[in-house]
Amino acid sequence: MKLTVRKAAEAIKKGGIVAFPTETVYGLGADAFNQEAVRKTFALKGRPSDNPLIVHISGLHQLDKLVKTKPNYFNKLTKSFWPGPLTFVLEKQPSVPDVVTGGLSTVAVRMPDHPLALDLIEQTGPLTAPSANKSGRPSPTSPEHLIHDYGDKIDYVDGGPCRIGLESTVLDLTGEQPAILREGAITAKMIKKQYGIEVAEAITQSSLDAPKSPGVKYTHYKPDATVRWLSNNDRPSPNTVWLIHSNNITEEGDQIIRFDGDFDRMARQLYDEFRRADLLGISEIAIEPLPSPNHHPLISALENRISKAIHQ
Ligand code: TXA
Ligand code: MG
Repeated sequence: MKLTVRKAAEAIKKGGIVAFPTETVYGLGADAFNQEAVRKTFALKGRPSDNPLIVHISGLHQLDKLVKTKPNYFNKLTKSFWPGPLTFVLEKQPSVPDVVTGGLSTVAVRMPDHPLALDLIEQTGPLTAPSANKSGRPSPTSPEHLIHDYGDKIDYVDGGPCRIGLESTVLDLTGEQPAILREGAITAKMIKKQYGIEVAEAITQSSLDAPKSPGVKYTHYKPDATVRWLSNNDRPSPNTVWLIHSNNITEEGDQIIRFDGDFDRMARQLYDEFRRADLLGISEIAIEPLPSPNHHPLISALENRISKAIHQ
């Protein structure tokens, strides 16, 4: 059911779960200090319990009860990038329930750049919010996607479509050097440019036994349709959605979606296209190979999400 922010806050304070919009994707919000509510979030999503949740805050004053030590450059980072699509992993306070962090000694925190999210969290206090999809499905970027996954069982705050459309960058600040665990709209290059802080780029972690970010080992972002890169011998077919970003491909067809070099729009619509193909019963999505990451800040994140949809 659609709820106002005030009703959503009341429901969350009573231990309920309410989906809410952020600038990246919709999150499934619960009171971060209510273990029972957090446990219910895992059950509702069908998420493995060792995959920790991001705690969302509305103000820096909420950090003290969540994180222990912060590196000396932390304030600079938050000043530039918060509210925004950047999540920090830091040592957690003992009061943060283990169920939130999947037993890790660290906690992920983010201040989302969305007025409804900030208003909600201001009323409830810190909220755990995984992307609101059922586990393994593409993240929801509109209220319609929530209904696809949960039917009318879900309570949500309606913020319309999300502005960015891909999940936040996750930056680990607990090591010697900041390291990107998941690519998003904020890149290593942007952080470096702003402050000269060296940031380790994301590494392919599927080959590691104990990945630093537990989420990377699970299936993600996958529609029912088979996702693959477009190849030179492809011909348009009603059974394949084409996602095309350049003007090099001139074929025409009903299922050819063009982004004309607009990678912001491609990111914003990627998961919606995945879900649209499923609703139409289209069996394949073929995506034009992306140019080098220097081309646009969202290319690394797009490449990462598309590769996961292809390979897992
Ligand atoms: O944009 C986003 O980040 C969205 C919106 C709702 O804020 N949230 C989101 O949450 O994508 P989720 O749960 O779907 O993804 C969180 C990622 C997972 O890959 C998880 O493993 C990682 O963050 N993570 C959470 N806590 C962590 C920790 N303590 N250490 C390392 N990685 C962590
Ligand atoms: Mg997710």
